[in-house]
Parts: sequence; structure tokens; C-alpha cells
Amino acid sequence: GPALSGEHADASTIVALRRQAEGCERCDLYKNATQLVFGEGPTDARVVLVGEQPGDREDLAGHPFVGPAGRVLDECLHEAGVDRSDCYVTNAVKHFKFEQRGKRRLHSRPNAGEIQRCAWWLGAELDRIHPEIVVALGATALFSLLGRSVGVTRNRGEVIGTPDGYPVLVTIHPSYLLRIRDGSDAAAERARFVKDLAKVAARI
Ligand code: URA
Repeated sequence: GPALSGEHADASTIVALRRQAEGCERCDLYKNATQLVFGEGPTDARVVLVGEQPGDREDLAGHPFVGPAGRVLDECLHEAGVDRSDCYVTNAVKHFKFEQRGKRRLHSRPNAGEIQRCAWWLGAELDRIHPEIVVALGATALFSLLGRSVGVTRNRGEVIGTPDGYPVLVTIHPSYLLRIRDGSDAAAERARFVKDLAKVAARI
């Protein structure tokens, strides 16, 4: 935990962890996914961003946040004064969960058991990186990090400690911004997301 902050993993320990995760059978999601999508970024990152799970694009590419939600995330981080390349970017769940509908693969929400089983990997990533701040992008990330259900809306923009003592900034998932129909609502919500992310820049 943060008792060790100041110490950082060398890259090889994250590489070893990732290799271990490639054989993960803790839950069934590995069976239908194309591949593991593990966290990526500097192992001495002071910021860890946690999403929900890889989407269709991430599953095919093998990298986190490279699809539409990733584009919004990149833009908003940039506007907030945070460089994505300084962040370690990962997900609460490391395999894509989907429902096949014809040729399309529709995102399906990971359940509590899948999130809890995968939380071991997220904990292991944090214990190697020892970040100053972790950003929970939405409810799944928050549940994984805290080990209990905590409302995103009522804690939005706040910092809550994990059981291991890592400070977690609570915010929405960027894909929420892609689902808002009304243009002015979308702009306002996006501005609020940027404001949340700016709290990261203020802490590092
Ligand atoms: N949504 C997520 O939560 N994570 C990704 O990596 C991509 C989309």
C-alpha cells in the first residue's frame, strides 16, 4: 500500500504479472474473449486510471481504451492537463464480456463475482505501482477498488480510500458521455468530467 509509496516496480514485475494473467481462469470470461487486455503504462506512474472492462476494439487490439471511449478519455485528460502517457491505464475486468447478436458483439456488464475475482489482478497492479492517486472511471471500477458497492453519483469528484489505503477519485465512465443524446447535456457532463480529472492534475 501507500506505506511503500516512493518505491516502484521495475517494468519486469508488471510484465511477469501480465504473463501470469494470460493464463487466468479465475472466472469464465477468458473462454469467449479474444485475449487478455492487461494494464499498460509506466510502472512508476503516479496516476492509475481504472475502467470497467475492455470493449470490442480493445479485445481485438489487446490494449486498454483504444476505442471510442478511449478517444473521449484521451481528449478529456488532455483538457484537464493530464498526459495519458504518464498514466498507467487498466480495467477492473481484464477480458471482454459480450453477447453475440449476429455479427455484432454487444458489451455485457460484468457481474459482482467476475469483478471480485478479477480484483486480485488490479490489487496486484496497484501494489507494484504504488500510485499517488487512482481514478475510478464508473461504478465497476469503484466496486472493484473498494470491495463494496458505493454510489458514483453521490461521491462524484470525491476521494475515498481503498481498504489498502490508496486514494481513489470517483468519477463517471467516459462511455456514459457517448450515450447522452441531448447536445447541451452532453457538453455539460463532459465539462464536469474534465473538472473531475483536473483534480488529478492538482494532486500530482
Ligand atoms: N471501456 C473500458 O472500461 N475499458 C476499456 O478499455 C475500453 C472501454
